[in-house]
Amino acid sequence: MTHPLRLGIAGLGTVGAGVVKIVRQKSELLAARAGRPIEIVAVSARSRGKDRGVNLSDYAWEDDPVALAKRADVDVFVELMGGSDGPAKAATEAALALGKDVVTANKALLAHHGQALAQAAEAKGAVIRFEAAVAGGIPVIKTLLEGLAGNEMTRVLGVMNGTCNYILTRMQSAGLSYAEVFEEANQLGYLEADPNLDVGGIDAGHKLAILASIAFGTEINFDGVQLQGIGDITIEDITQAADMGYRIKLLGVARMTGRGLEQRMTPCLVPDSSPLGQLEGGTNMVVLEGDQVEQIVLRGPGAGEGPTASAVMGDVMDIARGIRPAIFGRPSRELAAATAAASAPAPYYLRFSLLDKPGALAKVTTALGNAGVSIDRMRQYGHADTSAPVLIVTHKSAHSELEAALSAMDALDVVVGKPVALRIEDV
Ligand code: HSE
Repeated sequence: MTHPLRLGIAGLGTVGAGVVKIVRQKSELLAARAGRPIEIVAVSARSRGKDRGVNLSDYAWEDDPVALAKRADVDVFVELMGGSDGPAKAATEAALALGKDVVTANKALLAHHGQALAQAAEAKGAVIRFEAAVAGGIPVIKTLLEGLAGNEMTRVLGVMNGTCNYILTRMQSAGLSYAEVFEEANQLGYLEADPNLDVGGIDAGHKLAILASIAFGTEINFDGVQLQGIGDITIEDITQAADMGYRIKLLGVARMTGRGLEQRMTPCLVPDSSPLGQLEGGTNMVVLEGDQVEQIVLRGPGAGEGPTASAVMGDVMDIARGIRPAIFGRPSRELAAATAAASAPAPYYLRFSLLDKPGALAKVTTALGNAGVSIDRMRQYGHADTSAPVLIVTHKSAHSELEAALSAMDALDVVVGKPVALRIEDV
């Protein structure tokens, strides 16, 4: 056996404790697979006294993660603190400046500073590995970087936030409102400390921006992600979309177009019979499409101690074995600028309430037609006293045409309230 790989772990929450457990409990297996022992030499966290269910007495303690990152006996800095700035960024920069490799689960850090950090790493011959930052236990980064390296990727899409998928599927199965299931998710501890990271689509948007960079050879452009959360989705949206054969998902989609990089993290309809439509609960699914492989579907746990620690250890093992692909799939100076492109045309699902009187529907269909939006399917049912819900599935329309149609509908005296419009993604 050669010399051990020595880890310094900053952040001992669920994931950090999970990594410590694996290193302690599976040391022989890891050493046999890596050809060298994997050791933890030092740890750091906010509170030293807290019981984390793991024995830390063998490791040096550092109050300051930057000091941990700089320790001469640390080969790999494992950053599991989180946060796009502050100590996580400072300690990562400190490790890279000394040429140490970094393993991180921090999607926010990479989404905001990935390009600069990759440059800092490359200048010192170090790597940053971040499997745990995207889709928890699913090895999607490795799949893109290595397994699909011979493909030109055409589209990357998926459900990348388990909490949102839990909320949407639970609303449907239990017939509960968004507010009720949000509270349930809160009680179960599913939500991030800032819940808007989950339900606002930000956490999943960070993940999509990272995947898009590797898939399309572009600099990470989180600001270019069109973001919309799930907070406005109602149980009516869910049940009526189901009546038309669809499920609502917080869906991330990235694709390179002639106009630039399209990146969206928005509620979308997908066919209920598709793998994405069938995805229940807190599970993640990433669909990767390439010119040679066509389509592959990866499904698995997107969060939790074991799955996320599993992803961290995959990266640690790669470093131990000397597997060092370029951080975002090619040297960072060769990544192209990511010009944000508007969404490609798509079919849309419209739901609105229409006054039940002669000529009302004709006014709506005329407004749609004038905006260039063509109707594919339509349903009107469940009349209340004076109005009736109407569901329309359009043929493919440009987003600008849809917007024009919606503002024309706003001006009509027969549409009650604001129509709901959701994109239907072809999956
Ligand atoms: N909060 C995320 C989720 C996991 O619910 O999927 C961490 O990114």
